[in-house]
Parts: sequence; structure tokens; C-alpha cells
Amino acid sequence: MTLKPLVVGNWKMNHDYVEALHLTQQIGVVLKNKAREHVDIVVAPPFVDIRSVGSIIESERIPISLGAQNASMYDSGAHTGEVSVSMLKRLGVKSVIVGHSERRSIYGQTDEIVAATVQTVARNGLEVILCCGEGSEVRESGAHLEFVRGQLERALLGFDKKNHSLITLAYEPIWAIGTGETASSEQVAEMMSYLQAFLGERGMSETRVLYGGSVNGENAGALVTDGRAGGFLVGGASLKVESFMAIIEAVDDCYSRSR
Ligand code: PGA
Repeated sequence: MTLKPLVVGNWKMNHDYVEALHLTQQIGVVLKNKAREHVDIVVAPPFVDIRSVGSIIESERIPISLGAQNASMYDSGAHTGEVSVSMLKRLGVKSVIVGHSERRSIYGQTDEIVAATVQTVARNGLEVILCCGEGSEVRESGAHLEFVRGQLERALLGFDKKNHSLITLAYEPIWAIGTGETASSEQVAEMMSYLQAFLGERGMSETRVLYGGSVNGENAGALVTDGRAGGFLVGGASLKVESFMAIIEAVDDCYSRSR
């Protein structure tokens, strides 16, 4: 437990800008009453909410940072419907989720697009939250470790080593996303040690590895202590202040106790 843990709220396609403002303010109030100094916190709202959420974070000095759920692999130009990394950066975004399984499976994001996006985000100096994770068939066949390694090798192909510090990994088994079926602490611990070894081989041992998939306030503590997760990428439970803060509190408690 040497790296400060990170909890990222991935709001997906939820909350219009009014709801997003409200939730951000609620998070701000909770953190004002009790700071959570052992955890870094990121919220990743839909693109159209980013400006408003960023303004409230700044004006109320809320100790959380702004993330985006996706970005174009291109810098600018004729890409109807896309949003560039530099546009996000201008709005105060500090990190971008890349390669989420929903983008891969529903929006055709290939390994090549993931790799190009990772490079574009890092070239612009923003942090990359790089997602990986196997489906249930791969898990049942027992090939999950090799599968995830392959995904990461392809995502980091051609990646400039000097930008390694901008990478965070998020292991999200697809069968656990939004299903209520969280991976067990043993399953998470196995993947965490495998990924730490993978990162070590690449001189990236200072990289945080998050877990994602039906995380909530009840299972978060065990996933950190027994599963050795370096934090979480949270979907459903990040949409309400109570459930999001319960996860942050659980992580903060684990890390403050370990010091
Ligand atoms: P979930 O989503 O927490 O709702 O399972 C996680 C994610 O997709 O990042």
C-alpha cells in the first residue's frame, strides 16, 4: 500500500448538467465536513456536464478532480460527433478513461483505437485510466490472465516510455460490470499481483491498478485489504452521494489504518 489510492466515479450517460451540479455540490459538502486525505477522487461526467462540474469544483474548492469518459484519438478536424483531448484539457479535465468495455463492445473501439487514444491523451499531458477485463467465457475457460495481458500489450503498443507515469490501469471484468456480481477478493488479488508483475517488467511499478465492477460501500473495504485493489472505477454507485462517499470512506479507512 504505497501508492495513494484513487476512486473514479464514471457517471456514464447519467445526470444532465443540473443533476450533475447537484451531485458535485453534495460531494463538496461531505468532503468539507470530513476530508478524505488518503484517497484521490475523480468524477467523470458526460461531456455536456464537464463545464458546469468543473466550475463548481473550482469555485467551491472541492478536492476532487475532473475526468472524461472518452476522447477522440485525433487532435482536431473533420470528426463529426467527437471531442478532442485539448478541448477537454481546456475545461480542466485531468484524466480520460480509455478502452472502457462499453466503448469496445457497443461503439466498436478496437485495440488499435484504444492504443491511439492512449497516446493522444498522454501526448497532451493528461492521465489515462486504461480499462481492461475479460468476459465471462474467458473467465470460465481460465484464460483471463493471458487475455488481460494481451489487451494491455496491444493498448500500450508504441507508447512513449517517458509518459508512463500518466497511466493508471483499471481491471474491470465485464461479467461484474453493472451486474451486482462483484469479483471475489481472491479473484481480484490474483489479477492485481499478475498486473503488478506485468507493470514491473515494464518499469512501471509505480502505476496504480484499480478494480471496477459492482463496487459498493459494503465490498470496497475487502477488495482493498484482501483484493489489494489500488482503488476503484465505480459506475452505478457513483451516481448518488451516499453510495459514492461510502466507497471513498471505506478506502480511506483502509489506507489510514495501514499507515
Ligand atoms: P459498475 O460499473 O460499478 O456499475 O459495475 C463500473 C464501470 O463500468 O466502470
